[in-house]
Amino acid sequence: MSNHTQELLEESRQGEATLLNAITASGNRKLYLESYGCQMNFSDSEIVASILSEAGYDTTKNLYESDVVLLNTCAIRENAEQRVRQRLKDFQGLKKSNPRLVVGVLGCMAERLKEKFLEEEKLVDLVAGPDAYRALPDLIAEVETGQKAMNVLLSLEETYADINPVRMGSNGVSAFISIMRGCDNMCSFCVVPFTRGRERSRDPESIVKEAQELFDNGFREVTLLGQNVDSYLFYGGGPKKDFKQLSEEEKGRAVNFAGLLAKVAAVSPLLRVRFTTSNPGDMTDEVLETMAAWPNICKYIHLPVQSGNSDVLHRMNRGYDRPTYMNRIAAIRRIMPDCAISTDIITGFCGETEEEHKDTLSLMQEVGYDYAYMFQYSERPRTLAARKFKDDVAQEEKNRRLKEIIQIQSEWSLKRNQEVLGQTVEVLVEGVSKKSEEDLFGRTSQYKVVVFPKEQFKPGDYVQVKVHDCTSATLLGKALTS
Ligand code: 5AD
Ligand code: SF4
Repeated sequence: MSNHTQELLEESRQGEATLLNAITASGNRKLYLESYGCQMNFSDSEIVASILSEAGYDTTKNLYESDVVLLNTCAIRENAEQRVRQRLKDFQGLKKSNPRLVVGVLGCMAERLKEKFLEEEKLVDLVAGPDAYRALPDLIAEVETGQKAMNVLLSLEETYADINPVRMGSNGVSAFISIMRGCDNMCSFCVVPFTRGRERSRDPESIVKEAQELFDNGFREVTLLGQNVDSYLFYGGGPKKDFKQLSEEEKGRAVNFAGLLAKVAAVSPLLRVRFTTSNPGDMTDEVLETMAAWPNICKYIHLPVQSGNSDVLHRMNRGYDRPTYMNRIAAIRRIMPDCAISTDIITGFCGETEEEHKDTLSLMQEVGYDYAYMFQYSERPRTLAARKFKDDVAQEEKNRRLKEIIQIQSEWSLKRNQEVLGQTVEVLVEGVSKKSEEDLFGRTSQYKVVVFPKEQFKPGDYVQVKVHDCTSATLLGKALTS
């Protein structure tokens, strides 16, 4: 993966960025695929590329040579949707000069807007929701007969387990593996349960096989993806069930998230294992103990808190309060003192008072996150919050609160990086630094970016680096001579 791509992926965790994915091959028709939003969308795009490659499409990064343009979209916040609308407008000229061009919208925004997309956004020929990607070749064929095509059916079973993703824009070192789909949590602000449907877990054997193949192809890091990985439970396929609901036979073969982590970690001690996203209400000590037991499971947890106030958390329907969240933080610190922690925070949620906002600030000081993704609340149609509460925190107030949150976080990010000064850390090299050809960059187990002089090292190497300097975003060091 290029530095630029890495940077975009980084941003994409915030649900905002664009990635132009591509590899060009010969012959065949050309597919231009652009992804927005979370890592799950980027992972889905690799599945889409695989399905369409079977149907005779090669991906291209040259928009102007493409026969089919697909945007894999995000609906998490209003501004994510606006970016897609703008992008569709950009395509207007293209469509005029090439009337045979097929333009399609995939992902969460497609699922949310359904036929409205075809009716209102005249530029779109095709709409496919997150569980409909196997139908894409047929949908494109339908468009080519002069019709508009749509499939937004959500599934209780689809996990794309048998699809071998095309690793687009890959750095050849780290890859995503999607382990589950959908979400059953119904946090009141969140549109995901409506756009990605019910939660279902993927067969662990297919996950381990994918990890093994990646390792055999030189990859050294996999990130297991799910909206709520802690509730992963495979009992033979189908929609989510609690362990208690399983039959004796299902219990016998059931694999939970801790079990899955251990299976993937066993592929090789040289394969780093990461995962996202954890849910504070579901994260068990068993998962933490499994992380502690396997040196190759990275010591980094993204544990979204959203708010530091229990009443706000209740309105958000998060299923935990502040003390429960802090209990999970204490468990992480107890079981893995060297574990880095990051979070997501929403500011200005419905009815949030100044006092409640201050509780978020105090929680941030109490935890001292290594990193945080911070957002202003954006009302999403159909969600519980949109139906039940007023989006009543004034825009200037949201701006001010967000600024305060960002300020505290940048202080902590710097402080957490300064703690590493003078230490020697193991870095998995991902590529060449964006600032200098002479430097490489990679990450520590704690997900911290480290930049150091290249010497004889290359992507995929594990290097012991002594850290001598840092900013709030990056550690600077030098490889130890062995
Ligand atoms: N407004 C603002 N932020 C949101 N998120 C999810 N829904 C919304 C919303 N309606 C944030 C949450 C979540 C992250 C992926 O996006 O913090 O953890
Ligand atoms: Fe949305 Fe909550 Fe599910 Fe995350 S856990 S996807 S915030 S509903």
